[in-house]
Amino acid sequence: MKKLIVGNWKMNGSVELLNEFSQGRSRTEWAHAELVICPPSIMLPHAVSLERDFAVGAQDCSHANSGAFTGDISANMLADFGVKYVLTGHSERRRYQKETNDKCVSKVNVAQNSGLTPIFCIGETLADYQSNLTMDVLSNQLESLLVHNIDFENLVIAYEPIWAIGSGLVPSLNTISQTVDFIKDWIIRSKGRVHGDGMRLLYGGSVSSENSGAILSLPNVGGLLIGGASLKHPSFRLIASSAYRHLKSA
Ligand code: PGA
Repeated sequence: MKKLIVGNWKMNGSVELLNEFSQGRSRTEWAHAELVICPPSIMLPHAVSLERDFAVGAQDCSHANSGAFTGDISANMLADFGVKYVLTGHSERRRYQKETNDKCVSKVNVAQNSGLTPIFCIGETLADYQSNLTMDVLSNQLESLLVHNIDFENLVIAYEPIWAIGSGLVPSLNTISQTVDFIKDWIIRSKGRVHGDGMRLLYGGSVSSENSGAILSLPNVGGLLIGGASLKHPSFRLIASSAYRHLKSA
């Protein structure tokens, strides 16, 4: 299966940068990974209108389908505009917008009902990590998916240790591997093997063109969620190339 390489631009980027990504399309190596760019919401219609070899994702959607939610954008509206993916539960939204896990999962639900593929982000704080609580935290975050009866076949889960985001710190390959395996086992235990095998698990947090190849070579890592390094066309392309190299050697 192709690796899923997702760029989360956060509140960065510009129309000019989107144009640059579009002009650099159709390189051999890009065609061998599935690429997604998530620009700020105001840029989504422009991103969709471009000739491109990447899918367009949103960084958030409302938990509701319509109504009195000033400033929000519904998953239906995103789908209407040609958006294919949506991030939910990113730690920055959990932290700055005070989004609860339950709310993040209700966004997964509306996204799926609108035909989008949600990318549900989970991860532990540094304190959790240092207290060996990672698996407990992840289990709690995952548990809500069962409560909301989420379709695991149309779901991407991104493991992003909060302490690794934007810090230049990356867990050891062994830790990433064990944690992603834990998530996969959890899914198989809860939902059955088919679902666990069918969905993709991403790693995110200080991914760069230097470490992407090694992370992608871990057996259960189905792709990457990239912040800072997705803002430069050359570094994003290099990361896409490492997915290509992996595919060739797999
Ligand atoms: P980073 O961000 O790659 O800049 O660490 C990742 C993310 O927040 O998704």
